[in-house]
Amino acid sequence: MIPVAPSSQAWLDAACADLPTLLIDHAHCEKKAASTAVRYLFKYPEWTRLISAMSKLAREELVHFDQVRRELEARGVPFRALQSANYAAELFACARPQAPARVIDEMLLCALIEARSHERFVRLAETVPDARLAAFYADLAEAEARHGGLYVELAEEAAGGDAAAVATVAARLVELAAREAEIVARPGQPLRMHAGG
Ligand SMILES: [Fe+2]
Ligand SMILES: [Fe+2]
Repeated sequence: MIPVAPSSQAWLDAACADLPTLLIDHAHCEKKAASTAVRYLFKYPEWTRLISAMSKLAREELVHFDQVRRELEARGVPFRALQSANYAAELFACARPQAPARVIDEMLLCALIEARSHERFVRLAETVPDARLAAFYADLAEAEARHGGLYVELAEEAAGGDAAAVATVAARLVELAAREAEIVARPGQPLRMHAGG
């Protein structure tokens, strides 16, 4: 399990009070997750394990996008653009510039994004009163846990794949998780899947 700090009760309360905005932002997140996976297909074409995993991941994230889009449709909420809270941009600014550290950090930052989604879907699944939506969040939480683990494994492969690599990656993950906790809790941000407390 990837060690992300728990979201605040204030975030959970705000999310449950404005599910339409949360769902619109969530749809954008699924679309961005698919786009990130495709971007890595182009960026690392010779990394066999990565291209196999990213091809599957991109398709799965687009299925999630469509599921959330249909949830919006069922609620009569139009999908629309939303201002970004710059969570991913702030996170990726933490990546070290030189390979292989750059690649390890990219994979770990993706793992943390997935882990934050997992943490929030678990909380939402426990809290939202709509049983169907709660079940949907529980399903997505399972997927995000799996995606987080996948990105950590790719980071370990990028680090060399041996026991020393595993230890190095685990230590770096703890450092980046601390930074992620600060970024997600930045004050003054709108309600988003990855911002607002
Ligand atoms: Fe997803
Ligand atoms: Fe995911």
